[in-house]
Amino acid sequence: MSDKLIIFDTTLRDGEQAPGIALTPDEKLVIAHQLARLRVDVLEAGFAASSSGDFRAVSQIAAEVKGPVIASLARAHPDDIDQAWDALRHAARARIHVFMSTSPIHMERMLRMTPSEVLKASVEGVRRARRYTDDVEFSPQDATRSDHQFLVDVCRAAVEAGATTINIPDTVGYATPAEFTELMKRIYAEVRGDRSDVTISVHCHDDLGLAVANSLSAISAGARQIEGAVNGIGERAGNTSIEEIIMAIKTRQDIFGVEIGADTTQIFDTSRLVSQLTGYPVQFNKAVVGRNAFAHESGIHQHGVLRDRETYEIMNAESIGQRGAQIILGKHSGRAGFADALANLDLSLEEDEFNLAFEKFKAMADRKLEIGERELRAIAATGLSQSSGAEVTIAGISVSGGHDTTPTAVVTLEKGGVTSEYTGYGDGMVHAAFSAIKQCFGIEARLVDYRVVPVTSGADAMAEVNVVVRVVDNTYSGKAVSTDVVEGSAEAFVDALNRAVGAK
Ligand code: KIV
Ligand code: ZN
Repeated sequence: MSDKLIIFDTTLRDGEQAPGIALTPDEKLVIAHQLARLRVDVLEAGFAASSSGDFRAVSQIAAEVKGPVIASLARAHPDDIDQAWDALRHAARARIHVFMSTSPIHMERMLRMTPSEVLKASVEGVRRARRYTDDVEFSPQDATRSDHQFLVDVCRAAVEAGATTINIPDTVGYATPAEFTELMKRIYAEVRGDRSDVTISVHCHDDLGLAVANSLSAISAGARQIEGAVNGIGERAGNTSIEEIIMAIKTRQDIFGVEIGADTTQIFDTSRLVSQLTGYPVQFNKAVVGRNAFAHESGIHQHGVLRDRETYEIMNAESIGQRGAQIILGKHSGRAGFADALANLDLSLEEDEFNLAFEKFKAMADRKLEIGERELRAIAATGLSQSSGAEVTIAGISVSGGHDTTPTAVVTLEKGGVTSEYTGYGDGMVHAAFSAIKQCFGIEARLVDYRVVPVTSGADAMAEVNVVVRVVDNTYSGKAVSTDVVEGSAEAFVDALNRAVGAK
């Protein structure tokens, strides 16, 4: 049995399926480069046939990101598989990931196919994928609720047809560790056997909070690939957290004894980047990457850690790339100081992104005395995400409201060098600002998600605002950071509408 554990990252595919995440192809490319720095082995860049945006993202990542094998998901349909290959063709190493449901409920209620039709389509799908690449993964969706004998039959047929990785998804997060280990032992014995050219993989969802435990339990049964997403994002309660897997393997070598190629010092930056670009905050007490993961509150704990860090820490914050050094900038800091601080945080921005971020920094520094690491990361992320060549920008905003007064916003917007003022009313000031902005764009946009996440604490805290709008059949996200919730919300809304207009 190989001692190398393959880390398969699906942040940009399953992770991106989480409600309210709408990454642009450019944002996906930025994350993909960071995943390459983290040295994941396989990077699932998307589901090429699912939309033109996904197709573009997979193609761009396949052409530009070096290091990992680049994968695209595909249903076991000829068109999906052909499109997956079309998007992947420029990758140095490409994998087509074919899936087909095998549980009774999926076959009967969703696919309306008989078991023999499912088996036949799985085999044909794998064969078609093998015409393009010799790296083909097959996933029997909802494996843990499938009849085990049928599951084994389909997986064996997929291997006969040429699949080199058999991935067992716990699609609905139903399994428990002991039962999953038994299933994985059977799959290993009856599907892989002594074929060293076949890897057994797992893909666990977190509906019962067991995704990481189930994934790790499969290692003892012979699994040598674990799939997961950064910060555990994904459908419903999410996927296995890739950073938790990496640190569990590193920290408990005595138990797992498998090697991984990941560079743990990239974990912190990867987690922050994914959180900022998706707008999904990281839970404070999240294992490994949460704000409190290395914080010690009680006197006894602090005393212990001061004497010897290992009294209460099993990992070192620096091993996941958290920097000890404090970075503080203020309103007197110039471009060079700002650039230097970004470089210290390993954040690199293109010139136009840097200019946007620097403008934002100056505006923030004028209001807030000190800008530290958290604020800088958030500011840099707006530089990365705000659409360049923005059609409309905000030149000014004033709001009024309060008890017995209709909340009103007057927003001055600049478009093509012309400045105009729009007045909007709403249930609150944010709503009023959105109403004013919509008049300028003149498009039907429905707000489908709105999140305000504090970056720091205190009365002058800075917040990240994320909005997702639906225009006709497409969703667009917008982001901004500000110490003023109404202003930040208006900027994020304008960002989303600029993207919608730019995409037309
Ligand atoms: O959860 C799941 O079953 C999946 C498959 C497509 C691998 O994401
Ligand atoms: Zn999944």
